[in-house]
Amino acid sequence: MKRRVFAAIFLSAFAIAAAQAEPASSIRLPAPQKSGGKPILDAVAARASAPGSGFPTQAISQEELSTLLWSASGRNRPDKWVVPFGQGVDPYVDIYVAGEEGIYRYAWQDHSLKLAAGGDLRARINPQGFAKAASHIFLFVSNKDSRTKKGANSPHLVKWTHVATGAMTQQLYLVSDSLGIGARYAETMDVNFVRQTLNIPSDEEPICIFALGKR
Ligand SMILES: Cc1cc2nc3c(=O)[nH]c(=O)nc-3n(C[C@H](O)[C@H](O)[C@H](O)COP(=O)(O)O)c2cc1C
Repeated sequence: MKRRVFAAIFLSAFAIAAAQAEPASSIRLPAPQKSGGKPILDAVAARASAPGSGFPTQAISQEELSTLLWSASGRNRPDKWVVPFGQGVDPYVDIYVAGEEGIYRYAWQDHSLKLAAGGDLRARINPQGFAKAASHIFLFVSNKDSRTKKGANSPHLVKWTHVATGAMTQQLYLVSDSLGIGARYAETMDVNFVRQTLNIPSDEEPICIFALGKR
């Protein structure tokens, strides 16, 4: 009898732990900070990558995450964005956010995160030591659907995604500095792992990653 009670307690504790470990399928982000912060020229003057060794390891809050994502790919006017997108179309570079719980895709439409893969995969995305230390890793991946949906027809669509990623990551360098967050751009990533894990088709490109950690 005693053994059965113990087994029941053990199993229900296990079930609760398993349920708690399940990442949320969708996360509504809090409103981003849209004013204040460091003067822009001070942030430009301070812009630097956090060193790979000794990368800042403190956790980034949901409010900070919200501000970072909005400043990389958010709407700041009706149908217009904080960074320029060719011919005024929707953002054609997706941002995936890898953290402790899993990898989420940023949905600018309702400023939320959609689960793409569960589990802590940060070190699998980039084998460098700072990827494991970082609070979050942003992953930039081209998204042709968005780009062509509104009729964008330039022969230079691939170049466009690289230009947009440059604008998005530079914006992130400045805003992260303003929030006291260390950041590092990196080209290094396990592209095959990223493609498989996130179901990225062969005609889309995982472009780069951006590691972030609170100082
Ligand atoms: C195109 C590009 C690719 C990079 N790739 C990596 C990388 O794979 N791993 C890494 O640790 N840093 C990478 N970096 C970060 C650079 O090493 C860093 O930006 C450079 O040393 C200049 O330092 P700063 O950003 O402080 O000016 C990359 C930077 C750029 C611009």
